[in-house]
Amino acid sequence: MRVSIVGTGYVGLVTGACLADMGNDVLCLDLDAGKIAALQAGRIPIFEPGLEPIVRRNRDAGRLNFTTDVAAGVAHGELQMIAVGTPPDEDGSADLQHVIAAARAIGRLMTDYRVIVNKSTVPVGTADKVRKAVGEELAARGSSLQFSVVSNPEFLKEGAAVEDFMRPDRIIVGSDDERATETLRRLYAPFQRNRERFMAMGVHSAELTKYAANAMLATRISFMNELANLAERMGADIEEVRRGIGADPRIGFHFLYPGIGYGGSCFPKDVKALQRSAFEAGAPLELLAAVEGVNERQKHVLTTKIRARFGESLAGRCFALWGIAFKPNTDDLREAPSRVLIADLLDAGATVRAYDPAAGAAAARLYAGERRVAIVDSARAALKGADALAIVTEWQEFRSPDFNAIKAELRAPAIFDGRNLYEPAALRELGIEYHGVGRRA
Ligand SMILES: NC(=O)c1ccc[n+]([C@@H]2O[C@H](COP(=O)([O-])OP(=O)(O)OC[C@H]3O[C@@H](n4cnc5c(N)ncnc54)[C@H](O)[C@@H]3O)[C@@H](O)[C@H]2O)c1
Repeated sequence: MRVSIVGTGYVGLVTGACLADMGNDVLCLDLDAGKIAALQAGRIPIFEPGLEPIVRRNRDAGRLNFTTDVAAGVAHGELQMIAVGTPPDEDGSADLQHVIAAARAIGRLMTDYRVIVNKSTVPVGTADKVRKAVGEELAARGSSLQFSVVSNPEFLKEGAAVEDFMRPDRIIVGSDDERATETLRRLYAPFQRNRERFMAMGVHSAELTKYAANAMLATRISFMNELANLAERMGADIEEVRRGIGADPRIGFHFLYPGIGYGGSCFPKDVKALQRSAFEAGAPLELLAAVEGVNERQKHVLTTKIRARFGESLAGRCFALWGIAFKPNTDDLREAPSRVLIADLLDAGATVRAYDPAAGAAAARLYAGERRVAIVDSARAALKGADALAIVTEWQEFRSPDFNAIKAELRAPAIFDGRNLYEPAALRELGIEYHGVGRRA
């Protein structure tokens, strides 16, 4: 099939590459000329495991192309998949300006039937708004061209995006148009050969499903974070509790890790946007307000522990940070808890030496001109001259480090483990002071 992707970011690029890999003829459009130039030159603007070879082979085969030419994008695909950003507006609602702009461009320029697919995470009712925007543009041209609008929220996880797209656990399509549903069924057939994962449903249900999924996951995280803080007070160990409750099949082990709060480009904004929609619908979600509040507090948990250990003022102290990205296997710094920790440490007078296996370049840009933050290129280099080490992102390479080197480099030596990577007793034996989240002292 001929597919156009509108918005070539984390979701758009992965979607385009994976669809091309199944033999589709894909044109990825973006307004960011730098991004498109990089892709045309064979460079991948994001870090996403496994993506580069797929982009390369499909580019080489001529099935995956990139453009900034909106008219070419609209002309190319019967399917127009919108994957532009939906950042939070001032009141927390999703800012739909990019989605609507993309829809209007399609309405303005289309010359044939189009299926417009909302892949961006958008509030209930957005498909109706897209339909209206396209209709208005067609009416302004005096055109009676046909089009369909469907909701097809994306559930891929950054860091495992290719795997998630290639082997989805569900493909949600919200549509009230049989012809469009069938087109999507054909598009996704190669991704569900061993069993049917395609779930057709009402448009509003599909839109709400995406928010419900992220809100549920965020709720599990905040629940575990609150329990971890309680466990510390009660002399319990949250790791033991986690194993104990995860064994219950009704609960399961996924997403039960306490830490330093959720971040990233999705959970924070989606939790906010769902709350805003619920408020506007006259059915406020009290639970989610608490989930968000707990998360905001949790982002400061390492600062609190560091200050309890070193004193309120951290002037003259230096802290090593391992991990800056909001989670492993990505270079994404959007709403990363590391940013809150770094701000807290600087406010208290400290300096920071931070290392991340993939997000170093993005972090160097973010902290350019901030002399108190050094972004270094190895875990070992981060330790140089630091008082203590904070574990911020659970990258694999931090799981089994050379503890003797850590001990030799750090002045204290103390580890503030925001991801509970290490065993408190083992570190004690090595003579390293250990502060986890919810671990028994
Ligand atoms: N990142 C994720 O893990 C993830 C997962 C599931 C769903 N989502 C959702 O998918 C959407 C996209 O997220 P993302 O992380 O890929 O965003 P992103 O910021 O990485 O990419 C969005 C791209 O759209 C481009 N763009 C904006 N307006 C445009 C227009 N009118 N025409 C063409 N291009 C335009 C931007 O230049 C940018 O490159 C969001 O709604 C997000 O919530 C993201």
